[in-house]
Amino acid sequence: DVGSSTNIKWHEGGVERASKHRLLGQRGVVLWFTGLSGSGKSTVACTLEHALREGGRFTALLDGDNVRHGLNSNLGFSPQDREENIRRIGEVAKLFSENGVITLVSFISPYRRDRDAVRARLPPGDFVEVFMKVPIELCEERDPKGLYKKARAGQIKGFTGIDAPYEEPPSPELTIQARDGAGAHVPPQAMAQQILTFLHEKGYLT
Ligand code: PPS
Repeated sequence: DVGSSTNIKWHEGGVERASKHRLLGQRGVVLWFTGLSGSGKSTVACTLEHALREGGRFTALLDGDNVRHGLNSNLGFSPQDREENIRRIGEVAKLFSENGVITLVSFISPYRRDRDAVRARLPPGDFVEVFMKVPIELCEERDPKGLYKKARAGQIKGFTGIDAPYEEPPSPELTIQARDGAGAHVPPQAMAQQILTFLHEKGYLT
């Protein structure tokens, strides 16, 4: 049965997770950013990573465009390829977080089922879903890479939010919005701060 894990045995053992946590002075966690293209996932993840690093935390950032140049360079944007994209990223994030790294993951990850499958692979509390809840109109107005324009012109098929679905998370740990209650624009630093506050309050950063 080539290509499956039928004849593979799982190895337990190795250095205990708790001892790695003690060494690093932190516990590993996956901060999973999800949202439309142009919703600010990468900007906020990057801002947050810098803030965490300044606070002496050991972090890693897995980002859509970068991972698709390497590990997932053989994958496109069909539902099946997106599923495999997210599955592999989930496994990589799991390895990092198990080893004590605060792992920031920034992919559209449009399918609820694929995100939930990653969540289910991790111990309870290790998966923090951060939903970038930004209206498509705003993402399209920003259009930092000109991709919405191309998608509208029919030059890209299956573009998320245009002719491919984005399934909002029903109960993310965190929802980040572009405007505050008073309608004022929220800068990326303030968004990153919201996440930091959550991490402190929930005991992730002791
Ligand atoms: S997914 O759905 O999670 O597998 O996508 P991801 O790996 O995050 O890649 C999204 C980035 O790829 C560019 N791109 C597309 N996005 C959506 N749909 C289609 N068809 C598509 N083709 C290319 C786009 O630049 C996304 O970048 P971000 O950073 O999200 O804007």
